[in-house]
Amino acid sequence: MESFKRTVTCGELRASDAGKSVTLNAWVHRNRDFGGVQFIVLRDRYGIVQAVVDADASAQLKQLAANLKFEYCVAVLGRVRTRPSDQINKDMSTGEIELAVEQLIVLNACDVLPFMIDDVSNANEELRLKYRYLDLRSFSMQRKLKLRHDVTWRVREYLVNQGFFEIETPTLIRSTPEGARDYLVPSRIHRGSFYALPQSPQLYKQLLMVGGMDKYFQIARCYRDEDARGDRQPEFTQVDIEMSYVGREDIFALMEGMFAHVFKNTLNIDLQIPFRRLSYDQAIELYGSDKPDLRFAWEIQDLASLAAKSSFDVFTSTLAQGGSVKVLVAKNCGTYSRKQITDLEDVAKTYRAKGLAWIKVGEAGSGLDSSGLDGGIAKFFTTQAADLISSTGAQAGDLLLFVADKHKVACSALGAVRARLGKDLNLADPKAFAFAWIIDFPLFEYNEEEKKWDAAHHMFSMPQEQFLETMESDPGAVKGDLYDLVCNGYELASGSIRINTPELQQRVFNIVGFDAAEGQKKFGFLLDAFKYGAPPHGGIAPGLDRLIMLMAGESTIREVIAFPKNTNAYSPMDDSPAGVDQQQLQELGIKIQAREND
Ligand code: AMO
Ligand code: AMP
Repeated sequence: MESFKRTVTCGELRASDAGKSVTLNAWVHRNRDFGGVQFIVLRDRYGIVQAVVDADASAQLKQLAANLKFEYCVAVLGRVRTRPSDQINKDMSTGEIELAVEQLIVLNACDVLPFMIDDVSNANEELRLKYRYLDLRSFSMQRKLKLRHDVTWRVREYLVNQGFFEIETPTLIRSTPEGARDYLVPSRIHRGSFYALPQSPQLYKQLLMVGGMDKYFQIARCYRDEDARGDRQPEFTQVDIEMSYVGREDIFALMEGMFAHVFKNTLNIDLQIPFRRLSYDQAIELYGSDKPDLRFAWEIQDLASLAAKSSFDVFTSTLAQGGSVKVLVAKNCGTYSRKQITDLEDVAKTYRAKGLAWIKVGEAGSGLDSSGLDGGIAKFFTTQAADLISSTGAQAGDLLLFVADKHKVACSALGAVRARLGKDLNLADPKAFAFAWIIDFPLFEYNEEEKKWDAAHHMFSMPQEQFLETMESDPGAVKGDLYDLVCNGYELASGSIRINTPELQQRVFNIVGFDAAEGQKKFGFLLDAFKYGAPPHGGIAPGLDRLIMLMAGESTIREVIAFPKNTNAYSPMDDSPAGVDQQQLQELGIKIQAREND
């Protein structure tokens, strides 16, 4: 290898290098014979370059070149020369030159490929994941993993400059109830006992604050046994952060600075900071979601006072029962067919709405309806037509969409319709990044199935002070000192100011159903630590995969993870998860039981 070791890479040769003798180590990207002249395009991480075996080359060299197949790994020695002016390729950074090949060594051959290595792979995702090591050679994957590297490095650079310590926390931990299901790891030494893989380093980062580390971060792997989706993987990465003696404003300022630094130094984008803020209640009221896509305006409006005067029984009875009537003005959707409206209704129904009423807005007197309203439930609004149009700000050509239901259902259903229309009509600028803080979340949410209160985020978030006295009597009203950062319809980060006394922590445990004995059993180490002068502290954890996904313009995090699992939590490349030897199970004292219906 020594004598064939590369002296340059494929992306760096320019016209000024003409005349130099160089060696390249690369893959054969393309290989074509043009009337006895062999054009070989070579590729590595840095780019592509054209090598040429001329017609007057030795028969042996010509033979070798002609036999090169896709993705052969080669060493090419030759002299750089400028291309004739009619052969200059402006789309290639090395397009002004080519390499006149003098010697060619095949370092390794390549089997017939399962798919072509192109800029972007056209193969289906399952095949790409099976041969991920080939998929990673595409420029598209190389660009995304470079972006991931750049972002991670800039995050580290920023946080280290702010005085943070990067500290690792264990990944074999105690199983604690934290929201999702744990991945469990059986212990051989402590037969019958299990470690859990951390869903996040939450408790450890709080203990690091008790331990005086003051400012901590970690690029942390997290593991959650939940159904995979586009923006979820069983294992994923957080930029996990915790600080002592801080309030919400300190965390916001730190994060705004970090995101501005990262975007400027990777995509050269100047983010508008500070980010917009919306309370949880406002976000639900206006966008029907706690992670709204704010790249387009389209706000949901309340129609209670007008709807009460309509003759539509569904609306008046819903209001009489304390529910809400909400409306979304779908701009320029007046031409929607019944089928299109039914599709939207199906979206609303998946969010438990009973229906999606509609009215089209036309020009008054245009032949649609003298009132300017047409179709759907227009007939119930004849006397309030003008009011409906003016209060909603609707214009001719718009479609009004209504849901009457319990407040949260009406808002979420219309929010889902809004999101769907945003996608269908391309309302969002794909190049924009609309960040916002969602603040003042409820601390608890009611679990209808189990008829009990759950922590809305996790159990360690601080209740806002004004709710401390009424926390037990009215858990549903308690707002927490917790916040999310959203961007383009995704939850990018979550965090909170934490509880730091055992008494308050136990009160929260009680509300979610852990009495003192249970609290001590599950979280005794945390409650104990809080007894030793635990400082006030708070933190946040941006999801790194989701951040890179948005920055790369992708819609699944699988595209920005080197070796992800598929949507079935399975890796087609190494076939994991997989069975293990009987002996391994025996050592662990584990017997696999057949499923009842197997
Ligand atoms: P949370 O559970 O909200 O908070 O997670 C924080 C962020 O991590 C990302 N994320 C995921 N990304 C990919 N796949 C998943 N399965 C997945 N789950 C979460 C999201 C999310 O916003 N310990 C707290 C943070 C804190 O309070 O400081 C926590 O883990 O971007
Ligand atoms: P119906 O009176 O059931 O024929 O419904 C008339 C229209 O009102 C249909 O378009 C339904 O989708 C819609 N609708 C029914 N219930 C609701 C509701 N709770 N909120 C909004 N629209 C509804």
